[in-house]
Parts: sequence; structure tokens; C-alpha cells
Amino acid sequence: MSALWIYYPREYIRSYLASVPETVSLGNKASLAGVNVGAAVRDMNQLNDSRYLQLYNSVTPENALKLGRVMTDLDTQTYDFEEADALVNHALAMGLNVRGHALVFGKASDMFKSPDLDAWLEQYPETQRSAMLTQLMRQHISVMLQHYRGRIHTWDVVNEVLDLFGNGNIEKNVFQRYVGEDYIEIALRTAKEADETIKIVLNEQLNNYTDNRAEAFFELIKSLVERGVPLDGVGLQAHNLYSLTPPHTLKAYMKRFAALGLSVEITELEARLKLFSNFDDPYLAQGKFYRDITQQCLDVKACLGVTFWGYSDETSWMNELPYLFPVPNEPYLLDINRKVKPAVSLIESLFDSNR
Ligand code: G3I
Repeated sequence: MSALWIYYPREYIRSYLASVPETVSLGNKASLAGVNVGAAVRDMNQLNDSRYLQLYNSVTPENALKLGRVMTDLDTQTYDFEEADALVNHALAMGLNVRGHALVFGKASDMFKSPDLDAWLEQYPETQRSAMLTQLMRQHISVMLQHYRGRIHTWDVVNEVLDLFGNGNIEKNVFQRYVGEDYIEIALRTAKEADETIKIVLNEQLNNYTDNRAEAFFELIKSLVERGVPLDGVGLQAHNLYSLTPPHTLKAYMKRFAALGLSVEITELEARLKLFSNFDDPYLAQGKFYRDITQQCLDVKACLGVTFWGYSDETSWMNELPYLFPVPNEPYLLDINRKVKPAVSLIESLFDSNR
């Protein structure tokens, strides 16, 4: 495959436009099956779209609940919940399940500087920094769980603890560097103390479930469970960025967590259209892939559902990083004009013959 493949072709024939369904009932069928099907949303415009409730029965605010968006001043630990409350309250009024994302997320600070916790801590004497970040982390978890108590019942309490590459080492993110490797346990225990009614999830970016990194993640989770650290479930993000997960490997991996007594969820599913460019109809191939991934969840009782990491192809975090993710990304169930893509009817058909 030539290096040009990375950048060309940029457009594919949208044969699905000849048969876009008037209405879909994926959200309703998922509810009847007791499964969550959701999307990450950026704003009210996406949530208010007429298709939302046809497609989904769940929602994850993509960024609105993150530390960098709700805490307006790190020194005074001041919060502004206006944006987040508007999204959450509207979603609840729509009858949606709301997933909380994400209370402790090192990369948001290290990679996206949202907020830049290193810069904040460097203003203070080195001897104070560990205690300061530990206090901020614990206080943030408590404030968020108290504020959303009774509204958000599942939280990605800790997000992405592993290095993105390699054999599954614990990432030396800002929390690991200042609070220590037991930041994960401290965060999970704090969440349980703050609200014993929520489902506590540890959410990880994986899409290979048979390599050393996947094994290391499983062993980390197993160790937490065996030590009685509060944990109810695992989120498998399933970002298919440069390769496609063989769906059957996902089922086997989910069953291992189920055997520990945990729930599992596919929390951030996306597969760049570029990965299907070898197929005659990449949109159809993408849809079949999403159908097959969803089937793995339906086959594992402990799997709570599937969330796509965006509402429509108009916006994707990948489009903001064009050198890492050359277009076409187009990873979601609605296209750039919010037209229904082939994946929707393919996934919907699963509920006509499952559970
Ligand atoms: O909305 C502002 C815009 O007004 C401003 O001009 C622009 C430039 O500063 O920033 C925009 O906000 C950005 C936001 O994405 C929306 O584009 C934030 O800076 C940027 O930090 C934020 O990135 C998010 C990233 O997590 C970090 O929080 C992405 O949207 C979001 O898709 C991504 O999602 C993560 C999950 O939380 C965890 N798993 C991996 C996944 C992908 O990285």
C-alpha cells in the first residue's frame, strides 16, 4: 500500500444516500433489550437534534463534565456548572441515561493542558505539590459526585491509566507523578465514600485485546478487585484509529472481566472510514464492523452497552488533529449532513433477533 494511501482518497461514494430511512428506532429497541446505546455529545444542538432519541437511549457529555470545563479556578477550587448542568438536565428530561465522564484524567492535563496541572503546581514549593494535587483530586471527585447525585449513576471515575503504547505500564501522568501510583486506588475509594450509589468505572483506551498491554490492564483490574478496591465496571473505549479490532477478541476479553464480577461497556467506539478504504463500499463495511462489535456486547450479559464517541461526522476530535488522523475519519452513525449511515439499520437488525 503506497504512502499516499494515508492521504488519498479523501472522498468515498455515498451510495447509502439512495436509501436513507425516514425514521429509525435503534434507541427504542435498545431500551427494550435493556442495553444502552449512546453517543458523546459536545453541545445542546446535538442533543436537540430530531434524530437523537430515534438513535440512542444514553449520552456521554464529551467534555462538559471534565475538570478543565467545570472548575474555573484551581486555587479557589471554584466551579461553574452552567454548561454541564444544561446538558445533563436536558438529557435527563429526554429520558436518557447519562454517563459521567471523567473525574480523574491525566492526559486532559498533560496532553490537552485542560487544565495544565503541572503549571499550576509549579507555582508552589515542591514539598507541597503532592498534598495539593491529592487534595484537589479527592475534593473534585467529592464535589462532582455530590453535585450530580441522583442524576448520573455511572461515572468514569478514572480514565486511561496506561501508557498509550508499549506493554501496559502505568502512565506517568500528572496524578501518578505527584500523588503516586496509588492515585488510582485513592480516586476509586474517594468515589465510593462520596456516593455509594453510583457505578464506579475505570475507563481505558484499548482496541487490541490480545497483546501484552491488554493483559497488563486485565491484571491491574484483577489486582484492584482482589484487594477489595471499590470498582463496579470497566470501560473499553474501542477507538479504532489505525487498525480494526477483530470483534471476537473483544467478546473473549469482556468475558474475563465479567468473570471477576464486573460489568463492561464499550464507551468510546469509533472506526475511521479510512480503515475501510479497501472495501467496495467503505460506509457499508464500517456499518458491518459496528454491527459485529455491538453483537459482541449483546453476547456478554455483563456488557451494559455501546457508546459512540460522537453524534455526527460534522465534529470529531480526530478532525482537529489532521496530521495524526488524515481524513476521511467520518466515524459516527450520522454523516456530515446528519444523514443516517448504513451502520444504523445493521445494528438495529441485531435487536430484532437478540435477547
Ligand atoms: O471548544 C474550544 C474552542 O472554543 C477553542 O477555540 C479550542 C482551542 O482552544 O478548544 C476547544 O475545546 C477543545 C475541545 O476538545 C473541543 O474541541 C479543548 O481544547 C480540547 O481539550 C478538547 O479535547 C477533548 C479531549 O478528549 C481532551 O479532553 C476532545 O474533544 C475529546 O474528544 C477527547 O476525548 C477523549 C476522552 O475524553 C477519553 N478517551 C480518549 C478521547 C479522545 O482523545
